[in-house]
Amino acid sequence: MSEGWEIRSGAGQTLRNETPDLTCKPGASCDEWKMGGIDLEELDTPALVVDLDVLERNIEKMREFLSGGTAGIRPHAKTHKTPAIARLQMEAGAVGITCAKLGEAEALVDHGIKDILIANEVVGREKVRRLSELARRASVTVAVDCRANIEELDRSAVKAGVTIGAIVEIDVGNHRAGARSVEEAVALAEVLSWCAGLRYRGVMGYEGHAVFIRGLEDRRKEAEKAYRILLDLVSRLASRGLPPEIVSTAGTGTFMFAGRTPGITDIQAGSYIFMDQRYRCVEGLPFEQSLFVLSTVMSCPEPGVYICDAGTKSMSSEFGLVATLPGYGLQVRGMSEEHVTLVSSGEGGGADLALGSKVLLVPSHCCTTVNLHDFIYGFRKGKVEVCWSIAGRGRSR
Ligand SMILES: Cc1ncc(COP(=O)(O)O)c(C=O)c1O
Repeated sequence: MSEGWEIRSGAGQTLRNETPDLTCKPGASCDEWKMGGIDLEELDTPALVVDLDVLERNIEKMREFLSGGTAGIRPHAKTHKTPAIARLQMEAGAVGITCAKLGEAEALVDHGIKDILIANEVVGREKVRRLSELARRASVTVAVDCRANIEELDRSAVKAGVTIGAIVEIDVGNHRAGARSVEEAVALAEVLSWCAGLRYRGVMGYEGHAVFIRGLEDRRKEAEKAYRILLDLVSRLASRGLPPEIVSTAGTGTFMFAGRTPGITDIQAGSYIFMDQRYRCVEGLPFEQSLFVLSTVMSCPEPGVYICDAGTKSMSSEFGLVATLPGYGLQVRGMSEEHVTLVSSGEGGGADLALGSKVLLVPSHCCTTVNLHDFIYGFRKGKVEVCWSIAGRGRSR
């Protein structure tokens, strides 16, 4: 293949070939390319990269933990927005895939994912029409928290001749969306059960206020309070003849509590596959860091000061600065749009980097960092094996 050869991904993005042996994996709807084992250092930067051994271990740890209980994993794809990773999760036994946004869900369905839960409300004529269209191509379930939205969804589904699954969202302490009381949630489930175009499937309640609590016991207490609300709703629904098939909750910080709570059927965690600096500071999580931004030292203006070519346009900062890996003798001093400043620190005077050196940086928040990139490169033992399209990137509508 000649230099500069271009192929189109399923998302309509263009991947410019910088390696001669880049090939599209047959049957993968062109969102997955083999990279022929080039060295990680050869990637141009900034590049989003994932250690495949660690990614697979994280997926396996979650699978193994949940195999000892009654809940399944319906991993949240807002973290990776990458169909190839969703397919890996399904192959590892996920019961379906959770999405935050309709656009994200469309991107995954375009690339072969057939069971989607949108753990969010989908509101407005055009979106609801798109949701009904999506239901022609996949099993689609959406969260609801108000009667007007239920009626809008039902009309659209009936008109399109499809059935859309629906779960009632209840606020379990996160104070975001969700019915504000068990009574209100029961009333919504009753409305759902009468709808011709909607199929009542259950409930969800996300304890987002608990997932980042640092101490394990404090986190457990807060999560358990949330599950009491959710399970109170479950028993009231059962007593009204509406036992939920889906009871969905939990994030990476709380999966271990939800996964051992009888009555909860689905874990919606997302970040566990990648981890990030914020979750690394949360106690008791068994997952390892797999996601990095590869960056190049582009200036060494003073001894022990290294300016790298990745900033807030390739690594999000709403959870703070990126981090370096322990043992590298480097500390992060600051970030701007296209730069991060690293300084040597630690034993023996810290790191001594040459101009052009490559550095792996740990994002402070994996989900919003992924959303800044078109592609993610999978490497194993320093060799790049695969490039995946982040087809759901930017699909916030
Ligand atoms: C509705 C919902 N479910 C689950 C999650 C869990 O994600 P994570 O595992 O990244 O904490 C989130 C995160 O924002 C969420 O908004």
